[in-house]
Amino acid sequence: MLPIGPLMVEHRLIERMINILRIELKKIQEKNEVNPIFIDNIVDFIKIYADQTHHGKEEDILFRELKKKDLKPSHRKIMEELIEEHVFGRKITGELVEAKEKYTQGKKNLLTIIIEKINILVDFYPKHIEKEDKHFFIPVMIYFSKKEQDQMLLEGQTFDRKMIHRKYNTLVIEYENERELSRDKQDSDWINYI
Ligand SMILES: [Fe+2]
Ligand SMILES: [Fe+2]
Repeated sequence: MLPIGPLMVEHRLIERMINILRIELKKIQEKNEVNPIFIDNIVDFIKIYADQTHHGKEEDILFRELKKKDLKPSHRKIMEELIEEHVFGRKITGELVEAKEKYTQGKKNLLTIIIEKINILVDFYPKHIEKEDKHFFIPVMIYFSKKEQDQMLLEGQTFDRKMIHRKYNTLVIEYENERELSRDKQDSDWINYI
């Protein structure tokens, strides 16, 4: 399998979630209210799956390796756009979280911001995915030998394997920090050895 194989499979799941988000958006607008738990789940999916797991493999493996190659200007331009788009996606998700938190604290007028941010996300993700699927992933494979492709695929599998540990490691650290609990350096480092 090519290293872009798993990335394209992940695109399909992200599209399915975006489809659900689009349907939910209509309900939010009709009822003029939002279920904060649904937003929490969507944000978790976007942050952990779409961003850290998926964009993480794109940036930390595929793009990192492409940066070492003598890319055609058109390919370099698309890669730079994709990196900027990842930053944009993170910014909008952060703003959605902020609006949802204020909404749950009673600021009901924040619903318009929640709707605005969801609208941006349902518009953004399909376009970003189409750019990668149709105009980038396949053409840039020419820069890699079979050995390099296999190495990236393997590195992607290791990256995925560590994600669940990173997620819950981060959760524990956040709760410890909130409670000003100390931890051994060893406890912070163990994640690097699994
Ligand atoms: Fe991407
Ligand atoms: Fe992608």
